[in-house]
Amino acid sequence: MLGRPFVDGMMGDRALDHDDLGPRDGFPVILLHGFPLARGMWRHQAEALARDGFRVVLPDLPGHGRSASVDERSLATFAEAVLALADRLGLRRFALGGFSMGGYVAFEVVRRAPSRVAALMLVDTRAEPDSEEAQAGRHATAAKVRGQGAGVLVDAMLPKLLTERTRQEDPALADEVRRMILATPPEGAARALEAMAKREDQRVLLRELRVPTLVVVGEADALTPPSAAQVIADAVQGARLVVVPGAAHLTPMERPEGVTEPMRALLRGLT
Ligand code: MLT
Repeated sequence: MLGRPFVDGMMGDRALDHDDLGPRDGFPVILLHGFPLARGMWRHQAEALARDGFRVVLPDLPGHGRSASVDERSLATFAEAVLALADRLGLRRFALGGFSMGGYVAFEVVRRAPSRVAALMLVDTRAEPDSEEAQAGRHATAAKVRGQGAGVLVDAMLPKLLTERTRQEDPALADEVRRMILATPPEGAARALEAMAKREDQRVLLRELRVPTLVVVGEADALTPPSAAQVIADAVQGARLVVVPGAAHLTPMERPEGVTEPMRALLRGLT
């Protein structure tokens, strides 16, 4: 665990357990993790940014890590939970980062509260919705996870999260990721899959964005490939695209500096 865990009992099942790092008066940065992971995937970036003087808030999204699931299978609900957390912490404006599913949630946050987002960091994510085939695959996986547990996600996801080379050369990292997946409650993972299956097409939103934006992608990301990152970077006015060598999907953990340094460069411009 990175810092002080906190559960906001006032918000019922939407309360997001989170870490809150760095100085309380630092410029706030909220980082949203991917599926089926938890806040700890951002540990390298969070620790570096907190050292730089930013206040870094890392929620566990609904049904992941230590946050309860929500009944509604919708990423809009996830975004509302993130905004409610920002309200409770008194964060009026913040920089927002999202990895993969966290990026889908970040789009929903900015759609609801554009004036609150001072900068966007979109890491290994995509703006397009699922094809019908992808939706069917998500529902099949949700049924499997409910029946067999999160172990089925390890087999499906781990080879896509880290390159084969990293899995061989850094078994401790592979094990950390495996444990993070296994810690995801099956029902939380299943509901997230159902929510992702019906997510919006965000390409129109991107063209309207007027916020400093960074797009990062692992060069070997097969889940949200560099071509998907290029779509985002082409659509958002002034966006910077960084392609990180030697990384698959989970770039923030596989090549931490490749993500941290461009984030720092973007965030420095805000303070
Ligand atoms: C993630 O990493 O959050 C997921 O792979 C995203 C997805 O399945 O679309």
